[in-house]
Amino acid sequence: MRDGVENMSAQNDVKKVTLLGLQKHKKLGVKIASLTAYDAGFATVLDNAGVDFILVGDSLGMVVQGRETTIPVTIDEVIYHTQMVVRGTQRAMVMADMPFMSYSSAEDCLNNAARLMKEGGAEIVKLEWGALEIPMVSRLTDCGIPVCAHLGLTPQAIHKFGAYRVQGREDEIARKMIDDARALEEAGADILLLECVPMKLAAEITQNSSVPVIGIGAGPNVDGQILVLYDILDIWPGKRTRFSKNYMAEGGSIQGAIEAYVVEVKEGRFPTAAYSFE
Ligand code: KIV
Repeated sequence: MRDGVENMSAQNDVKKVTLLGLQKHKKLGVKIASLTAYDAGFATVLDNAGVDFILVGDSLGMVVQGRETTIPVTIDEVIYHTQMVVRGTQRAMVMADMPFMSYSSAEDCLNNAARLMKEGGAEIVKLEWGALEIPMVSRLTDCGIPVCAHLGLTPQAIHKFGAYRVQGREDEIARKMIDDARALEEAGADILLLECVPMKLAAEITQNSSVPVIGIGAGPNVDGQILVLYDILDIWPGKRTRFSKNYMAEGGSIQGAIEAYVVEVKEGRFPTAAYSFE
């Protein structure tokens, strides 16, 4: 199916988004727009709306499965959802999340990342910093597996954090995040993702890094934005985070909402201060 889609892409002259393309975006200051998706239908809508990369996030545990946290999500479930998203995508790059405890040893990390790519069809894997170790990033990189490192609020560690709240307000933690970001990039991370980080800190990390930095609740001065699809579509409204915006109100339809998000990100109009942290 993937081969078929790729051929069709070539026939339709669809320019596939690649890591190289995203790096160019960073150099040229073109904002990167990203969203999560978990199935082929929504993936197609995102793809048509010009989303640059789609994350098959372990947030699927919360928004699709209705669980309280992302912790129960399994590697098989992420593979299943990644396969669906890949089938619905022609242009966007597909990133898949490594779920809780799927990278707790170097061997598991390599095997599970390989499964996401070989069985799922992912083009890049995302791991949450904390459980992730620098040698794992180097090993994945040596094996040709593109890596996104997720810093700041890492939801798989929710029981350690105790609450979903901003990370990096204190000088010492901010300094450590800057050092960690640098070390991850030096080890080969291709993308950094900052969640729930004060905008000044996110801006500093972005200026000092040569790989794209994507923010979620990290303010406007990063290379791109990502949000959870169900939040912008106002599904589960009681659970939407402060940094997510309901685009259904202005978009009027699912397609309209997603297009409005992409336009606002690309034009640097999202996020405003109201959706960021000082
Ligand atoms: O799982 C997910 O959806 C994520 C985003 C919050 C970035 O990691």
